[in-house]
Amino acid sequence: MKKAQITGIGFNVPERIVTNQDLEKIMDTNDQWIQKRSGITQRHWVGEESNTSILAIKAAKNAMLDAKIDANDIDLVICATLTSDYFFPGISNQIQHALEMRKVGAFDIKAACSAFIYSLSIGDQFIRTEQYKTILVVGAEVQSTALDISDEGRNISVLFADGAGAAILQATDSNKGILSTHLHSDGKFLKELWCEAPGTSNNPRLTKDILDEGKHLPYMNGREVFKNAVRRFPEVINEALDANKLTIDDIAQIIPHQANHRISEAVARRMGVGMDKVFSNIKNYGNTTAASIPIAMCEAREKGLFSSDDIIILAAFGAGFTWASTAIRW
Ligand code: UT7
Repeated sequence: MKKAQITGIGFNVPERIVTNQDLEKIMDTNDQWIQKRSGITQRHWVGEESNTSILAIKAAKNAMLDAKIDANDIDLVICATLTSDYFFPGISNQIQHALEMRKVGAFDIKAACSAFIYSLSIGDQFIRTEQYKTILVVGAEVQSTALDISDEGRNISVLFADGAGAAILQATDSNKGILSTHLHSDGKFLKELWCEAPGTSNNPRLTKDILDEGKHLPYMNGREVFKNAVRRFPEVINEALDANKLTIDDIAQIIPHQANHRISEAVARRMGVGMDKVFSNIKNYGNTTAASIPIAMCEAREKGLFSSDDIIILAAFGAGFTWASTAIRW
């Protein structure tokens, strides 16, 4: 049976860097609190000229260069994002058009921080059934323009950031590629991390009152999210190990969604490994939601933390709640 191999990866973040010291000037926060509670020292936020599709298109081009393919080779575009340029349609169509692809299928996946793994899993199914040979999977977000940067929103706004990452999946007969994917959700926790508007639960969807009440800004119960994340990450990583009859010693690198450095440290402790096996780059990028895993994959490979034939595990947890993992032989 065909497997889906990742043959190229790439990323792109906005040029503008916002440090913790920059945030101190606009809200009641401080560098020490942010570093201690989250591990973040800086993040990239778009300037006025950028939006999610611009970041996504550059990341996709970088992944295509890395895979040494051109736009004509791509059979399907899947874009993981919560923050499309417009309420509809999604940005996958803009990517298809901007990169001058054939008129291939293109759709967005809205599964918050788990969306990149959800999207890899969908791509994997299309390749295993031999419907498609080459699939572009992108994770892209612009969170910064929907953050409450007043004192009330400080628990969220210091964490979230912008960026994009992409991967090319290609059919292979070799033993490399996606070994398994596991996807989960529990909608009971919907309101612990959500953004209420605009949405059809309000009629009309967007009014001055909705804006005045701040319902268009994300809300997070940080402690509840933290508590569930430190439980679900190890659970879904172990699911990937068990499904492939692997132990943690077989894994070159766990690359988790970059939610919080303390969450990653808790995951390492629960998995019985050191932080040398759990990749973290949240220090420089903050939490870029669906983009964090492909960005982290690029940097982990660049640092030589995994290479050909190594097995890595990607894992995510986020709004929904959703959580997911995938084991990949590189
Ligand atoms: O992508 C997946 C989704 N997100 C996550 O995985 C995030 C999960 N949660 C977290 O990472 C953590 O809960 C946070 C980093 C958001 C917060 O850390 P915490 O240790 O849970 O802090 P807390 O919310 O309990 O707040 C502790 C204190 C509060 O003050 P009092 O009530 O003790 O006086 C907050 O008002 O810290 C205060 N605080 C801040 N202080 C300075 C909250 N945000 C800030 C801030 N700067 N930015």
